[in-house]
Formats: sequence, structure tokens, C-alpha cells
Amino acid sequence: MNLLEIDDLSVTYNSPDGPVKAVSNISLNLQKGEVLGLVGESGSGKSTLVSALLTLLPDNAHASGRLCWHGEDLLTLSATARRQLRGNGIATVSQDPFTALNPVLTIGKQLVAFQHHKTGSRREKRTRAIAMLERVGISDPQGRMRQYPHELSGGIRQRIAIAAALLTEPELLIADEPTTALDATTEMQVVELLNASRRLVDGAIIFVTHDLHLVSSLCDRVAVMYAGELIETGPCAEIFTTPSHPYTRALLACDPARITTPTRQLPFIAGSVPVPGMARQGCPFQPRCAESFAPCAQETPSAVLSADGTRMVCCHKVTQHA
Ligand SMILES: Nc1ncnc2c1ncn2[C@@H]1O[C@H](COP(=O)(O)OP(=O)(O)O)[C@@H](O)[C@H]1O
Ligand SMILES: [Mg+2]
Repeated sequence: MNLLEIDDLSVTYNSPDGPVKAVSNISLNLQKGEVLGLVGESGSGKSTLVSALLTLLPDNAHASGRLCWHGEDLLTLSATARRQLRGNGIATVSQDPFTALNPVLTIGKQLVAFQHHKTGSRREKRTRAIAMLERVGISDPQGRMRQYPHELSGGIRQRIAIAAALLTEPELLIADEPTTALDATTEMQVVELLNASRRLVDGAIIFVTHDLHLVSSLCDRVAVMYAGELIETGPCAEIFTTPSHPYTRALLACDPARITTPTRQLPFIAGSVPVPGMARQGCPFQPRCAESFAPCAQETPSAVLSADGTRMVCCHKVTQHA
């Protein structure tokens, strides 16, 4: 069953320098029970896609296409229906837990407030909050309830932000680069916590990251974005062993965890991501692609699906899946 169906979604920002097409004609489905990794370099449009899902696009953004959640198009929802949805159905954990937490309220007050859509007394909501803090591995949860965000470390704050999201019992949890601001040890703890959260989310999780390595340890399926476009999707187990798109292959080659011979120079993909909004023809990766040939600069590659429909790639070199 599809929880979410994204159909030909585009998002364009109006900026003083002209329009910026941050998300281009993306189609993607998400099934119940799935953990999807959304991967791409900085600026590839990941957060824009997430904002569209959260119905939080800024006023200077224009979205087209369809974004169906339980069969209802989020792009055409009324403001009231959107507010309802944000607290009840889709929850998010962002890169900076400070943005999720109010600096002038205690953790306890906030964790109770996060449950405003839920039934039960204040006391019951406090009990639920304390139990959730325990579940996310926070020691002395009663004491934490009385503290303010600034009194806590980045790792604890991120755990609390995850607890807050889980308290709303979301059907879709979106974590947008939730570990980017953390040190390596804390990062691994938060990744383990997100992995354990799978059991607490009766729906699906989207994990957004520029780090392919994290996707391989957390996700069932991966969707690779490049310059606002979705260029490859498929089950993690297959994409990591037999990537089809030259960009996915290049990303994997740059993953430090996969480098087996000692080196002082980490590999990188030469060139830079195209400026969004610039008129261009053909495949967006063509200027950086070592494998490009005649049609790549001229024609936009169309999506090639595998026979069983589980893999998709947009590349002129791939005419059929292995
Ligand atoms: N509010 C905005 N106004 C104008 N341009 C924006 C805005 N937010 C993001 N962008 C642009 O959209 C593109 C995609 O950004 P973003 O979705 O944040 O990518 P990512 O999350 O993959 O780093 C970037 O070029 C960025 O500068
Ligand atoms: Mg982002």
C-alpha cells in the first residue's frame, strides 16, 4: 500500500536573481513500513522536497504536480487541514534540534505541548513524555523534564527532538540530516536510535542525508537526487552493489568507508553541481560525467524501470536493467 505518492512534483523559488527550480518533475512512491534514504549533494533539492511534504514551503515557492498523502493532494489542502496534518500524521526531525525546541520553555512543557492533538490529561501526557525519554535512552528523564534546551548537549537535544516527533505517533517520520551537526560518536548513537525508531513508527520513515554510508545502515530503499532531479531509485542492497547511474557510482566511489587502499587524497567528483534555474539541455550530470556521449548534452534521459518495477534510473547509457 502506498502511503505517499509523489507525481511529477516541481518546486520553483522566486529569487531576486530569477527563478530557481529546486525540484524538477519528481515522481516517487513510499510504502507503509518502508525506510527510504533520500541522498544528494548539498543544494540538490532534498530539503525543498521535505518542505513540500510538510506543507511548509515559503511564500516565494511555487509547487506543481501532485503530492498525495492517503490519497489527498497536500498541494491543494486548506490551511486548517495542513495544520492538522503537521501535528497528526507527518513529523520531522531537523538538522538543528534548536529549531524544534523553544528556548524559553522547559523540555517537560514542550513535550506535553507536542501532544496537543492527543487525548488525555496533562498528567497522562507528562507520563507519556517521561516514558518516551526513557525509550530514546535519556537517563534521569524526570530531571530532564525540568531543564531548558540550552542546558543540554547537542546529542541529548537531538534525542529529545526525536522523542518529541515520536510522541505525536506519526505515520511518516522525516529526518532531514539529523546527524550533520553532531560529532562522530553522538552521530552513531543517534543513527542507532533512528534505527530503533522503526518499531515505534507505524508507517514509514524518510531519512535525508548527503552521506551514503548512513543510508546503507538505516534504509531499505534509496532515492538519489541530482540538481533537483531524481536520477536513480531502488532497494539499498542492489543500489550499493550494482549502481546504474554514473553519478551514483561516483558517489559510492567517494564514500570513505568503501576505500580499501591507504590514500592521503580522498576521491571527489570533479566539477560542481549546476546552478539551479540555469537553462540547460540534456542530462544534468552530463558536464561532470566521464561516460557521457552524444545524446547526453542534447536530450533529457527518460526513466528506465526494471522489469519488476523496483529500480529506476535516468541515464542514456542504460536502456535496460541488468
Ligand atoms: N527560500 C528559498 N529561496 C530561494 N532559493 C532557495 C530557498 N531555499 C532553497 N533554495 C535553493 O534551492 C536549491 C535547493 O536547496 P535545498 O532544497 O535546501 O537543497 P539540499 O537540502 O539538498 O541542500 C538551492 O539552490 C537553494 O539555494
Ligand atoms: Mg537540506
